[in-house]
Amino acid sequence: MMSYFEIRGGKRLNGRIKIQGAKNSALPVLSAALLSNEQCVIHNCPELTDVAAAADILSHLGCGINIEGNTITVDSSKADGYEISDELMTKMRSSIVFLGAIIARFGRAVMSFPGGCELGPRPIDIHLSSLRQMGVVIDEEHGKIICSAPNGISGVDIHLPIPSVGATENIMLTAVAANGITTIRNAAREPEITDLADFLNMCGARIIGAGDSIVTVLGGRPLHGCEFSVIPDRIVAATYLAACAATGGRITIDDVIPSHLWPIIPVLAEAGCDVTVGSGEVTVLAPERLRRVKQITTMAYPGFPTDAQPPVMAMLTVAEGTSVFIENVFQNRYRHTAGLSRMGAKLKVEGRVCIVEGVPSLYGSAVDATDLRGGAAIAVAGLAAKGITRISRIEHILRGYEKFDEVLSALGADIKLIN
Ligand code: EPZ
Repeated sequence: MMSYFEIRGGKRLNGRIKIQGAKNSALPVLSAALLSNEQCVIHNCPELTDVAAAADILSHLGCGINIEGNTITVDSSKADGYEISDELMTKMRSSIVFLGAIIARFGRAVMSFPGGCELGPRPIDIHLSSLRQMGVVIDEEHGKIICSAPNGISGVDIHLPIPSVGATENIMLTAVAANGITTIRNAAREPEITDLADFLNMCGARIIGAGDSIVTVLGGRPLHGCEFSVIPDRIVAATYLAACAATGGRITIDDVIPSHLWPIIPVLAEAGCDVTVGSGEVTVLAPERLRRVKQITTMAYPGFPTDAQPPVMAMLTVAEGTSVFIENVFQNRYRHTAGLSRMGAKLKVEGRVCIVEGVPSLYGSAVDATDLRGGAAIAVAGLAAKGITRISRIEHILRGYEKFDEVLSALGADIKLIN
């Protein structure tokens, strides 16, 4: 794709926007629709390339798919495929979340390994060892994962070594079809986990404790269709709040669940923003110049989200004083620092630590988006910078941000999508 964003920086963001549905919730919920054997109507799905890829996978598995704006209707009654082609697999890394759903529905699954990505190695060992504990037989050969369950799927006690979001989702999906009770200890507690559990429970499953570190799934209950709406995207919300703060603006984000933003709000406040939380909305009024935030350590929820680290870092490049980031979730999530440096930011990366020495202003430059949130970080920097920033490889950004340029334009930003 040769499109790029052209941002003329220096405009204070101002206004009110609605926040899109969460990509990382829509994807597992869409995969879970495969289990219902009936029709599921899923609202608030963001219009994104990753969501389209998930719909494509469902359609290749034999589901009827109808997309109307943000509503995706999945009829899985005639689904008969249990294999995802390499081509579909490579379109979206998160397609691994189909593994649990396909096994639960068909007792077998074939797909290729998702492989690494921009954030470094993305192993799935925890997914696979958990499924094995449940009786799934997995052959890993020639880059393929071939799963079957010759003796059925059993509910078991699983203790996760780290609270992996994807592994927790895959176990929950598989456990819904298991004989007996599955208990997941050290489960991920992200709001997207709770959303998936809510969806499955609406379809007739019985999942208890989602959002806590012990999740219990009573397997083997028959599922049916339902109508559901995915939660708002807390990372998109955090990105626009960071953009507002970086430009000294004032915005209200609407249609959010403020408690999902708790790890973000204290950081904005420490940076000197006035944050007001209402019902379903958050307003941020930024000072003329932000202050440094002493330390931001990314951790599993309810810690500071790794996905918000790049845009918040971009915001703090123009703060007064030195901020310190510690990235604890991914090995390689500082690729955006090269672009930020090119725009005049003063950054030093050492292993998991990034030290950001605030500068009075950034200047526009031509920069590639290196990955989804890293691309959003460059955009935040571009909005705050003097001059024009041209962001290439924007397909990364469009994987996660619906109508990115339109939303920012509505807040008064000068951003153009150029094809
Ligand atoms: C989800 O990825 C999100 N993706 C990511 O969002 C997010 O960054 C991440 O959770 C952490 O919050 C989706 O929901 C689709 P993990 P996931 O398994 O499930 C290691 C974005 O920008 N690990 O919780 O893949 C892993 O390498 C994306 O929207 C293993 O070692 O994340 C990582 O270091 C990027 N073995 C850590 O755990 C495994 O089997 C956390 O990963 C699984 C994971």
